[in-house]
Amino acid sequence: MTPGERVIPRVLEIIKAHDFTRIVEFGAGANPTLSADFVASLGIEYTLLDISQIELDKAPAGYLKVCADICGDEHLPLAQYDFAFSRMLAEHVPSGAKFHQNVRLLLRDGGYALHFFPTFFALPFLVNAALPEALTEKLLHLLQPGRERSGNLGKFPARYSWCRGPLRSQIRRFERFGYEVELNIRLYGHGAYYQRYRFGETFMRGYQECSADIRCRP
Ligand SMILES: C[S@@+](CC[C@H](N)C(=O)[O-])C[C@H]1O[C@@H](n2cnc3c(N)ncnc32)[C@H](O)[C@@H]1O
Repeated sequence: MTPGERVIPRVLEIIKAHDFTRIVEFGAGANPTLSADFVASLGIEYTLLDISQIELDKAPAGYLKVCADICGDEHLPLAQYDFAFSRMLAEHVPSGAKFHQNVRLLLRDGGYALHFFPTFFALPFLVNAALPEALTEKLLHLLQPGRERSGNLGKFPARYSWCRGPLRSQIRRFERFGYEVELNIRLYGHGAYYQRYRFGETFMRGYQECSADIRCRP
């Protein structure tokens, strides 16, 4: 099991519990979290957003796919989604601030976001952050054969922006963008390689009232 797979049951549970129907997954790449059967059985509109068309093309046909940078200033559909989530994306984006700000813009008021990502401080992540990408890619291929770019579990440059916590300071950052954090927890990975390393899960709600307060201030 890859670390990101452990959060799948929780994503499904959240969707069912809240009756979410407009859902977007960021950095879904080659591995959409929701199966086509699950999407069809609940009548969900499910969008995969990824910066790489090559990765999106690896995902099965039949999904709604959008090639875009979640940290960019591209014109993405605003206030559209009930639920926005990501698995193993947050560590790759160049700016945690821009990422969470853009996600908030795409959510409808009161919509939810969930992000699952590795957190500092564990040695492999520190090594990955400190060494040049070309070297860490070679090391990974030695340690974990099967992680080639051409496959479905390729390695992507990691930056770990805002990949900390659970920390009060990180929660305050989310609140500044109009989120209310419901859950910010640390999980430990499954599987031999990941067993001891830290992963964070953040589940939060975007409130219109917060952004309205900010806009209305004299
Ligand atoms: C490690 S893979 C994770 C793929 C999938 N979520 C999983 O768990 O197997 C990271 C994915 O994020 C995408 N990605 C990286 N930076 C991105 C960005 N700024 N905007 C959107 N997608 C991005 C990559 O193209 C890649 O598909």
